[in-house]
Amino acid sequence: MCGIIGYVGKKEALPILLQGLRRLEYRGYDSAGVAIANKGKICRVKSVGRIDKLTEKTKGKNLAGSLGIAHTRWATHGGVTEANAHPHTSCGDKITLVHNGIIENYQEIKEKLGAKHKFVSDTDSEVVAHLIESCYDGDLRAAVEKALADVRGTYGIAVMSNDEPDKIIIARLGSPIVIGMGQDEYFVASDPTPLLPHTKEMVFLDDGELAEITDKGVKTYSLEKQKAVKKEVETIDWDEAKAQKQGHPHFMLKEISEQPHVLQDAIRGRYDVEEGTAHLGGLNLTEEQMRKVNRVVFIACGTASYAAMIGKYAFERLAGISTEVDVSSEFRYRDPVVDKNTLVFAVSQSGETLDTLAALREAKRRGAQVRGIVNSIGSTIARETDGGTYIHAGPELAVASTKAYTNMTAIMLLYALQFGRLRGVSLGTGKKLIKALLEIPAKIESVLEQSDEIKKLAKKYSKYEAFLYLGRGVNFPVALEGSHKLKEISYIHSEAYPAGEMKHGVNALLSEDFPVFAIATKNQLYEKMLSNIEEVKARKSKIIILANEGDDKVANLANDVIYIPETMELLEPLLNTIPLQIFAYHMAVLLGRDVDRPRNLAKSVTVE
Ligand code: G6P
Repeated sequence: MCGIIGYVGKKEALPILLQGLRRLEYRGYDSAGVAIANKGKICRVKSVGRIDKLTEKTKGKNLAGSLGIAHTRWATHGGVTEANAHPHTSCGDKITLVHNGIIENYQEIKEKLGAKHKFVSDTDSEVVAHLIESCYDGDLRAAVEKALADVRGTYGIAVMSNDEPDKIIIARLGSPIVIGMGQDEYFVASDPTPLLPHTKEMVFLDDGELAEITDKGVKTYSLEKQKAVKKEVETIDWDEAKAQKQGHPHFMLKEISEQPHVLQDAIRGRYDVEEGTAHLGGLNLTEEQMRKVNRVVFIACGTASYAAMIGKYAFERLAGISTEVDVSSEFRYRDPVVDKNTLVFAVSQSGETLDTLAALREAKRRGAQVRGIVNSIGSTIARETDGGTYIHAGPELAVASTKAYTNMTAIMLLYALQFGRLRGVSLGTGKKLIKALLEIPAKIESVLEQSDEIKKLAKKYSKYEAFLYLGRGVNFPVALEGSHKLKEISYIHSEAYPAGEMKHGVNALLSEDFPVFAIATKNQLYEKMLSNIEEVKARKSKIIILANEGDDKVANLANDVIYIPETMELLEPLLNTIPLQIFAYHMAVLLGRDVDRPRNLAKSVTVE
């Protein structure tokens, strides 16, 4: 969703800001804008559509200067128009700001400000610029502090003033904002990704904090306590090259192909072959506390929730702990029953998904132990949980999640093993699982080699308007994720069902026009799955089967087969999901979709 980038230093700000905007594109946006302070005057350019269009519009404009802010907007309040794009200004352009989040009482503020304020957009954000102006008395920081005391909602803001063109004021409540620390230059952004080309040293503002940034340094304050606070500088060890396409036509394809490698990053140093167990230190629980855990709840959205379903199978099977998966937007508004022996994992790639954040806060309030399984370093979910694990997938920039899903799954398996070894999983089973896990990266490589074959299949099936994905046991979440990938990026309607449930409804849809993608690898439910596929065949649907190499039974049932290597049942999702990702990718490309930035979707969903 919306993105912020800012610069204060000695260099020309414009190229830095435009490059930053490009690196924010992955979050999803529909318009963009930039504002730069030049000799006491702030010049602003905005545009609907892509950053290329904005770049064109900046040519010939007076945008010289070494201090500025810029924004990518994903429309919430008000349509996609140039007037609604950020930066917004107050009357007379005294105050210029960019804002992420939602100001809930903006109507109220607007009325209070009265008729002397002329609003030119339909946004909640513009109201804040006017409010700051009305509080301004020669001190921008004081004005922002005063204005924010009247604001209800969420914000990450960056503010400039004509009268103090040497500084940017930023503040945060519920919408992240990060400061990149350079040498006599400082950067501001809504997440670390656009800062990586410049610095790895970052300061993350917490909720209720504000910072004043000039080229001399950064001063941080608590809004509530009205006094200076000291912040730690954190080093983000993400490799800048990983945030580039590196020759791939799309980030999604690059991220799919990175999976063997990043899976190793996820598990490295976190398993013990001799002891047949895992050591995820960030759990912050003693063995005694771990033995007392009698329930695990995963809270997550989208792809993370499908990964969590695999975690459920693993926790129940290995650790014998009753486990649930709750979609965060449901959990947060129910009356979830949790207590101190419930271990809640918030699972999130971005670490910023608002519903997951709200759900974890609710779980904490009710006394549960809350831990994070998160990709983005320093993100809000990582900071607000009392421990947990980074999945080390590196920057994931395609909206459709792939490598983060795989790494989340691997970490959940390791957690389940760690608990399992305290509760009855034998040394032998533990060793076998780790050995099998260590073989997965090479097996994923072999699946990736089939990309061209899968592309041919996608071509054959790209004319269909709806698909059904079927799986059982651990492969039911795989079916859900495969179906999710297809609909997200190719816009083809698709459903996923546990195959045993078909006769209770979905059978009515089966026909020649409704191809079925069935996952039938050799686990304890293999025979049952084959019977379900027979039922599909009898109803004349075309069938693609995902089967294990050497399985000659399936060929008679299928129109097409994708063969993949065998592994232990609990690890199957790590392999079985890969061909489904590749299939969805090729379908989307063949249909001419915007693969990395599918319509109406955002990478980081920071609003409800
Ligand atoms: C959005 C993204 C999905 C992602 C989901 C959860 O819908 O488009 O790819 O799975 O949010 O995001 P999270 O960052 O919490 O994993």
